[in-house]
Amino acid sequence: MQALRDTTYRRLCDLMYESVGLSFGDAKRSLVSSRLAPRIQRLGLGGFEDYLALIESPEDGGEFQWAVDLLTTNETYFFREPAHFDLLEAELARTRPPKLRVWSAACSFGDEAYSIAMLADELNQVGRIGRDWSVLGTDISDRVLRSAAQGIFPQERLREVSPERLKRHCLRGEGESEGLVQVQPRLRKHLRFGQVNLSRPLPDELGPFDVVFLRNVLIYFDAATKREVVDRVLTCLRPGGLFFIGTAEGRVPCETPLESLGPGAFRRR
Ligand SMILES: C[S@@+](CC[C@H](N)C(=O)[O-])C[C@H]1O[C@@H](n2cnc3c(N)ncnc32)[C@H](O)[C@@H]1O
Repeated sequence: MQALRDTTYRRLCDLMYESVGLSFGDAKRSLVSSRLAPRIQRLGLGGFEDYLALIESPEDGGEFQWAVDLLTTNETYFFREPAHFDLLEAELARTRPPKLRVWSAACSFGDEAYSIAMLADELNQVGRIGRDWSVLGTDISDRVLRSAAQGIFPQERLREVSPERLKRHCLRGEGESEGLVQVQPRLRKHLRFGQVNLSRPLPDELGPFDVVFLRNVLIYFDAATKREVVDRVLTCLRPGGLFFIGTAEGRVPCETPLESLGPGAFRRR
């Protein structure tokens, strides 16, 4: 296959930036090329130009979405960055909300949303939070959302989940499903999943939430987009609500006043 030309790369970057806010500088060119090349070959296309024409077209057969999936990582696992879940647990046990609405924005396969649900269910069982709790998981990728809605996971992604928790909330697969676990329907009925592009105006009906997780997605955006996304997401968080970003994402500048509670953890003032 021909190498990725300058002009094609620039057009591809512009398309990704304008549509979904993803920012790839010159440094990411070989990464972009190596992630897309196998897909182009599999589709039997002539090269990057043809692929760009396909994903720019309204009749792309879902290929633009594929390209976004290939250029981002969906890496996630249960109770990733456990300090955030400890803080959430302590806060909920202290404030004892009768009603709780949580948003896992950029939830990928849903591991984060289900981790929150496990915690909420346990707190409800011991009377620390009310029965009216729910978690909304959203992502740009409908592929990961379809998987999240099923609540089926490779057991390896639940490596941080204690055996007691696993037993309480999950069913183990047998036979052909060996190595997979499914989250109990009792928990699943508190979760919903839907597609939301964080780099565009948010749907009016979203929020308000008591807690928002926006973790490990800001890395894809440039400084201006990061700020816009954070402020946009925070419009859906009620004052006093908790806000989490990935601990590796540093302090994110935004207009919305935030009180820092620890690495990647904030309270909206
Ligand atoms: C690394 S995963 C983060 C999963 C989870 N939050 C965690 O920390 O484990 C990043 C996710 O961001 C999603 N994403 C990328 N750009 C997005 C956008 N503009 N709007 C919504 N989601 C986006 C990707 O599809 C991917 O599933």
